[in-house]
Amino acid sequence: MRHFLTLKDFSSDELTKLIDRAIELKQQHKAGHVYEPLKNKVLAMIFDKSSTRTRVSFESGMTQFGGGSIFLSPNDSQLGRGEPIEDSARVISSMVDLVMIRTFDHNMVERFADYSSVPVINALTDDYHPCQLLADIQTYVEQRGSIEGKTVTWIGDGNNMCHSYINAADRFGFKLKVATPEGYEPRADIVAEADAEIMLFNDPIEAVHNSDLVVTDVWASMGQEEEQKKREVAFANFQVTRELMDNANDDALFMHCLPAHRGEEVSAEVMDATDSVVWQEAENRLHAQKALLEFLYLNSQA
Ligand code: CP
Ligand code: NVA
Repeated sequence: MRHFLTLKDFSSDELTKLIDRAIELKQQHKAGHVYEPLKNKVLAMIFDKSSTRTRVSFESGMTQFGGGSIFLSPNDSQLGRGEPIEDSARVISSMVDLVMIRTFDHNMVERFADYSSVPVINALTDDYHPCQLLADIQTYVEQRGSIEGKTVTWIGDGNNMCHSYINAADRFGFKLKVATPEGYEPRADIVAEADAEIMLFNDPIEAVHNSDLVVTDVWASMGQEEEQKKREVAFANFQVTRELMDNANDDALFMHCLPAHRGEEVSAEVMDATDSVVWQEAENRLHAQKALLEFLYLNSQA
């Protein structure tokens, strides 16, 4: 049974084909083609954290594919009342065809996957956000062509998104520069395990030179709300501004997984500039995850 808990669950070749398929599905959908490979199939969606893009994209994707989805939150399922993950996994997976989970501890999705009889998708944990990377790479490819051999700079927190960028550098073959304040670096073991050129910086201007893509994310992720004030001080010099973008390559793009805080990690000017592709990036969550759902479901039937 194949799961998608991190990008490393898929080979470079599989991921490249998935991106191509996402682009194809997007074109077909926009041309009005009806394609229902998941007719009568069901996706269970377990959300222990908030979401706009992830929920809307997975639900819409399942409906467009002819199937349906069930939204489960801890407030109104037995998961929130302490039913063991292993028991929940056996029960839920006996009734649905795919499961998507957004939660805190990455170990929870691993335990769920161990006991699930259907494919499990990580829709964000404290450590990784692999679905977002599918959309980001699709967006880069659509705008600029292959990302292989390019240079990407991550600005800000060494968080779940940054970790998935490190995995993506390995799988898609790009060079990654990571600029964080001291003490907010990505996990050393994730950096060490990457078969890619990963360079760490504490100076965003130095890091951004020669970059083809500049990416940032919130300074305080979900679950870190009480650190907001402390982080605003630590990250004060890490806002993606026009001046910072001007130090990257002339045709560099800007991405942000959203939700964004204008005036914190990114200036309003950069968010709304022509080199910002954040809206295309958000929309591609739908198309990239449809390619993922199709791949995992068809694979589970093989
Ligand atoms: N980027 C992203 O995952 O957005 P949501 O939190 O709205 O799902
Ligand atoms: N790093 C952010 C990403 C949100 C999509 C968080 O975990 O809250």
